[in-house]
Amino acid sequence: MDKEKLQERESLIHRSQIPGDFVMDFETPVDDLNRILPAVEFRDVFLSFDEQVVLDGVSFEVRRGETKIILGPSGCGKSTIIRLILGLLKPDSGEILIDGENITDLSEPELMIVRQKIGMVFQEGALFDSLSVYENVAYRLTEQRADEDFIDDQVRRMLRFVDLEDAIGKMPNELSGGMRRRVGIARALVGGPSIVMFDEPTAGLDPPTARTICELAIKLRDLEDVSSVFVTHEMNNLKYLTSEYAMVNETGDVVFEDEGDRLCLTNTEVMMLRNGNITFTGRDEEMRQSGDEYLLNFISGRK
Ligand SMILES: Nc1ncnc2c1ncn2[C@@H]1O[C@H](COP(=O)(O)OP(=O)(O)OP(=O)(O)O)[C@@H](O)[C@H]1O
Ligand SMILES: [Mg+2]
Repeated sequence: MDKEKLQERESLIHRSQIPGDFVMDFETPVDDLNRILPAVEFRDVFLSFDEQVVLDGVSFEVRRGETKIILGPSGCGKSTIIRLILGLLKPDSGEILIDGENITDLSEPELMIVRQKIGMVFQEGALFDSLSVYENVAYRLTEQRADEDFIDDQVRRMLRFVDLEDAIGKMPNELSGGMRRRVGIARALVGGPSIVMFDEPTAGLDPPTARTICELAIKLRDLEDVSSVFVTHEMNNLKYLTSEYAMVNETGDVVFEDEGDRLCLTNTEVMMLRNGNITFTGRDEEMRQSGDEYLLNFISGRK
């Protein structure tokens, strides 16, 4: 890609990150092209490590505003899919597109720009222990030498989003496991990514805390139009993400409702990865009716 095109894209990305473009801004006009293009697309992706085939021709899409839950046994390639989306790994063959842009052959500087629209939530939160909560959340924008007022606004906004404004001056070792995880989410959201990836974000958390993490993912999906990939092996997470939706009530509070009999209110799909292939993609109702014995055993905890 020539320099001029790169600069043009850079400026577009910066413009899309002006304060107010993210979270609680319902005025932003919807860009039709962006709605039609999947946020993430894999086209016949193959990847092996030495002799081991990890992805054996994988194709899928994450539509705009959708949460795609990836299920699969340990070592089946879930984290590998996330690394491919971030451009940290390259496939042996096939194509990976982010917002319609083929990133498969991009150079590292070009990938850095693509990564600005992707937030990553790691297992364990992965905070820098020597930095305060504020500095951890600000990290990405500080690295990008963003304006200080902008950074301050973003950090406070994101800590408010994860309900941790009071922890702004604390150090990571003063926080509980769940709080660390929420700071990790605030850090991933700073700068307003349109795509967020969660890799086992609730591992090791007690059920109520795990639920708050799922609620954050649901808020992103339903109120912020963020597209996400959510890797988990915890079936409670699957239940929340496929049956609950978030809305703002008359008094302006965010509330969570169960879709109950009104199916299809939650924009979440489940994808099962096994032996290098996607063996199922669909809604949770379809999953339960699929008759796929392995999948049904997996979700009932027998695998
Ligand atoms: N850099 C690498 N070099 C060699 N093999 C690798 C590398 N990264 C991953 N693998 C192998 O690829 C396979 C898929 O790994 P991956 O981390 O994607 O699994 P996973 O589905 O995320 O598993 P888990 O649920 O345990 O996190 C594993 O067998 C792993 O050992
Ligand atoms: Mg993994």
